[in-house]
Amino acid sequence: TYVVTENCIACKYTDCVEVCPVDCFYEGENTLVIHPDECIDCGVCEPECPADAIRPDTEPGMEQWVEFNRKYAEQWPVIVSKKDPLPDAEERDGEEGKMEKYFS
Ligand code: SF4
Ligand code: F3S
Repeated sequence: TYVVTENCIACKYTDCVEVCPVDCFYEGENTLVIHPDECIDCGVCEPECPADAIRPDTEPGMEQWVEFNRKYAEQWPVIVSKKDPLPDAEERDGEEGKMEKYFS
């Protein structure tokens, strides 16, 4: 599966949702997640993210992100069309500690 990781938080560009063939992105207030059981591993969303926030779970350290994506995909509504990014998306791209700020 592919997963959305920390740098999506507070950016939420949403380019990713436009290309997903199985509509497996789910939207929270500050970030999106991918449902790991619905993702077919096609990989087309990865290069679409301007914040480089989408990674394959085969990379090291991704277990926590698979868990995070699964947990919220089961709670949040599906998103299938692109919308405006969050207002400070550009400035906050690359900011450290966004996970802690928003999800602890
Ligand atoms: Fe959707 Fe493919 Fe990205 Fe999985 S890898 S979330 S199926 S676009
Ligand atoms: Fe987030 Fe990148 Fe999609 S910032 S909303 S994963 S395009």
